[in-house]
Amino acid sequence: MASMLDSSVVILTGAGISAESGVRTFRDNDGLWEEHRIEDVATPYAWESNPELVWRFYQLRRKQLLEVEPNPAHFALTKLEEGVNKFTLITQNVDDLHERSGSSNVIHIHGRLRTLRCEFSGENEERMKGKDLVEDFLFCNCCEKVNRLRPDIVWFGEVPMHMEEIYESVENCDYFLVIGSSGHVYPAAGLVNVAKSNGAKTILINSDSPANAFAFDEIHLGKAGEILPDLVKSWLNE
Ligand code: OAD
Repeated sequence: MASMLDSSVVILTGAGISAESGVRTFRDNDGLWEEHRIEDVATPYAWESNPELVWRFYQLRRKQLLEVEPNPAHFALTKLEEGVNKFTLITQNVDDLHERSGSSNVIHIHGRLRTLRCEFSGENEERMKGKDLVEDFLFCNCCEKVNRLRPDIVWFGEVPMHMEEIYESVENCDYFLVIGSSGHVYPAAGLVNVAKSNGAKTILINSDSPANAFAFDEIHLGKAGEILPDLVKSWLNE
């Protein structure tokens, strides 16, 4: 198999890569889903029945973006991007830490916290100023008669974003790496099977063994911020 330098590399990250930056994961012991039921804050039904609660939940998470910084795992991926032939970064994370560590063209399969989406037109807009991080609902700039904005997040029961582009890159990659994901949420958790069945080498970096561990050729257990920088160095023959 060609070295990673000459290859097409696709990365899928999950909440675990941002854990060392202080962003909570979902399914770990202290994870967000310990405190909130998914049904209460992460479904279209929740937004319909209790929008105030859903709004507060996401406004808190949007505000937190101003307090957190990328960690060595994010920077290791920026370095890997510079060293390989073709690089695609898919993230399930809604934070902006990949962009802030210098990664380009980050594909957010589950949406983004920095943007909000007009409930009427579906257009999104970046809203991260102080006046955008308040408890009250916000309204769009895209419609003549303003409409309420919702979090620009893919909730359970909604269609993940950019799937065509994602399948195209996963089907054609040589290496598929997953970092910091529990492998519970589909279709993201199934991408490793798509990569593997198309001949890619599949590699996992995670704190513990995830639900879809069987699909990986190589597993590195540990904290991403601690082990990824050295792995990237070895892949780049440094
Ligand atoms: P999870 O919270 O389900 O899983 C995080 C994984 O990261 C776990 O397997 C942890 O063991 C691992 N982990 C924790 N700290 C780590 C560290 N420092 N280094 C490496 N690994 C670490 O998060 P996701 O798999 O990303 O979707 O969850 C997928 C989706 O479920 C999210 O995008 C979100 C959620 O519901 C939506 O909200 C739509």
